Amino acid sequence: MQQQTMALQKSIQPPTVHLDANHPGFCDQEYKKRRNHIASLTTKYQGTIASIPLVQYTKQEHAVWSQVVSKLVKKSQDNAYQHHLDGLRRLQPDPGRVPQLRTLSKQIMKTTGFRMAPVAGLVEPKVFLQALGDGVFLSTQYIRHSSQPGFTPEPDIIHEIIGHAPQLINPVIAQITREIGKAAQHCDDKELVQLERLYWFTIEYGLCKENGVVKAYGAGNLSSFNDIQRCLSTKVAHRPFDIRQIIQTPYDPTQPQPVLFVVESFEEALQEIREFLSSLAIFKKPSTSRVRYEAESKARYQNKLRSTAREKKTTKDSPL
Ligand SMILES: [Fe+2]
Repeated sequence: MQQQTMALQKSIQPPTVHLDANHPGFCDQEYKKRRNHIASLTTKYQGTIASIPLVQYTKQEHAVWSQVVSKLVKKSQDNAYQHHLDGLRRLQPDPGRVPQLRTLSKQIMKTTGFRMAPVAGLVEPKVFLQALGDGVFLSTQYIRHSSQPGFTPEPDIIHEIIGHAPQLINPVIAQITREIGKAAQHCDDKELVQLERLYWFTIEYGLCKENGVVKAYGAGNLSSFNDIQRCLSTKVAHRPFDIRQIIQTPYDPTQPQPVLFVVESFEEALQEIREFLSSLAIFKKPSTSRVRYEAESKARYQNKLRSTAREKKTTKDSPL
């Protein structure tokens, strides 16, 4: 895949999908019709896992899934960080059929409290990041065009399930993802850009040394069978992990990433991300806004508990 436009940009609203002229499905009327249909299903979502729409994937969609996932699983054995491989083992996505987002969301919820919420397409980065702060991952359900299985110019169900789900079922990664999202709920516009870049160069495209060997842990790298090897090659400039550099580094989601940041250990990445988050203005000064943040966080947490309790009751009574 040349590159993916990541989940940072998805849309909750429009059931009518607009593809760019360079999208592999731009001239495929059947594909557009299919995309519109899957987008329309999201209007049935009511905020619970049980209401995540079930998509009746076609034979061709299952074939694309199978083709891409078999390659990804094989290549990830040598190129993926251990957390990713552990996550895949826990999730055990069906290699032959596109899994249902509802099923995956149930699995993840039981482990880390994160849930997936279906979206039709692209949404603003702010919306996406802020949802993470509430333990909600906005996820697409359509699949990439069959003519370019190794490339998708936008996030698809393969990116979400093979790239992000293994992260979200990992308690440590889920927690740091949630902390980035919480910061996004209260930061200013300048800090929001910094958080977008931080998310991009870690959760989407992070690299980490494992026993002295550079491995990929980012969802973008790990959901593209072109990127999964390219990101570790000399085609990409590897820079030492430095959040001051990361937050000053713009990125183009439509192009192959020319620069990625390599952290010496996963623990180091977590520590530095937390130090950065605590340095944001909202956390640095005990001010009115900080008091409001804490009050809102407490209220949000209590709502989450009530919502989770309702969710558990609902999902317990509902078939997949
Ligand atoms: Fe993503």
